[in-house]
Amino acid sequence: MFFMAVLQIRKFPDPVLRRKALPVEEINGNLQHLIEDMIETMHDAPGIGLAAPQVGVSKRLIVVDVSHKEDHPLIVLLNPEIIDAEGKIDSEEGCLSIPGYVTTIRRSERVFVRGLDREGRPVEIEAAGLLARALQHEIDHLNGILFIDRMSPIKREFFKKRYLRKTRV
Ligand code: NI
Repeated sequence: MFFMAVLQIRKFPDPVLRRKALPVEEINGNLQHLIEDMIETMHDAPGIGLAAPQVGVSKRLIVVDVSHKEDHPLIVLLNPEIIDAEGKIDSEEGCLSIPGYVTTIRRSERVFVRGLDREGRPVEIEAAGLLARALQHEIDHLNGILFIDRMSPIKREFFKKRYLRKTRV
């Protein structure tokens, strides 16, 4: 039995958010514990997705829960990869690591993702809608990419000036 804990969410510009995360190679009790804590942290925030680097662990692990909006159960994915993508769609997006900022981001409309479930079994997910967006956002985190990197350079400069000024202590 695990005691679940809400972990501290790393905030931009924490350098761990910019690192390329390493593949999960061993499935053990520590990993299961981390997964439970990440689910707890995501629900507590509340958010619809969380990637391990956001809790300071540079590993290729994501959790996604869009069940409040779409008919899909909670997803835990190890070493996820986008195999195929089609269409483009603009939608508003935010990130638990950049609190208080929401902007429109263009992403693929549908994606086909491959990875492993928490027991290490291969899984394939075909996603559209909010799930497709959340998967792309979380997989970006594993490559050190934040949603602000996907806006226009002018918008990004404007964001940096305002956001960093606001968060400076
Ligand atoms: Ni995020």
